[in-house]
Amino acid sequence: MTTRRDLILRELGLVQWRLRSAVAAHPPIPLSPVSGQAPAAGDPPSAVSGPESVTAAGERIGATAAMDWRQLEAAVQACTACALHARRRQSVFGVGDEQADWLLIGEGPGAEEDERGEPFVGQAGRLLDNMLASIGLRRGQDVYIANVVKCRPPGNRVPEPGEAAQCAPYLERQIGLLRPRLVVALGRTAASNLLRTDASIASLRGRVHDLRGTPLLVTYHPAYLLRNLSDKAKAWEDLCMARDLMAKLKAGQDILDC
Ligand code: URA
Ligand code: SF4
Repeated sequence: MTTRRDLILRELGLVQWRLRSAVAAHPPIPLSPVSGQAPAAGDPPSAVSGPESVTAAGERIGATAAMDWRQLEAAVQACTACALHARRRQSVFGVGDEQADWLLIGEGPGAEEDERGEPFVGQAGRLLDNMLASIGLRRGQDVYIANVVKCRPPGNRVPEPGEAAQCAPYLERQIGLLRPRLVVALGRTAASNLLRTDASIASLRGRVHDLRGTPLLVTYHPAYLLRNLSDKAKAWEDLCMARDLMAKLKAGQDILDC
């Protein structure tokens, strides 16, 4: 019988890998020790900021620290802290279940997101929704989706480090309010800003990182997967790892002992 999940997997082009991964699905997940980097003394007090986040962003961390969801959203709507505000139609705060166990973090809004005010609603978003469905998840149900920057970089370019740093206090507070069990960094911009590393996705995926006490996995960005079909197999492995890790986290298992 063809199940809805089979259909989704077929659409994703994942069927052959699913069958292959069925063989390897049940050995313990190869979780290596936490590899996150602790901030060095003197670093700004943010897990999501780079070296540029000094004064202005530092002050905003103080201002956002006590905000609730609605206050934070209003602050993002009104924000002009970096140059990206000038060409946005609207800022894109984030979407989903404010009590979610899952937090997915992308790069920044594209054209459709800028128009609709919601993350991942374009082509990459449709793939993301299918990726979520393939492991039994749905946007808005136990899942929250946010981006490193809340305003669209012109031409969909990668956000500059200074822009990411200015925006970091908002993501920081979203993480603080949500307190997710698991963070999934989608692509290099999210991974490099969250983990403060220049390492490739290939070298970061497949192990659990420590985002100041919250487990974090890295996988490919859906927009990248749309262009690089052969890496969908690896994304599928990452999703399975995330699903299994979440099961362990919900069961209260110590993931570092796996
Ligand atoms: N790509 C992202 O990183 N985020 C979005 O919201 C849309 C596309
Ligand atoms: Fe403010 Fe972030 Fe938008 Fe820049 S990208 S204007 S820091 S909300």
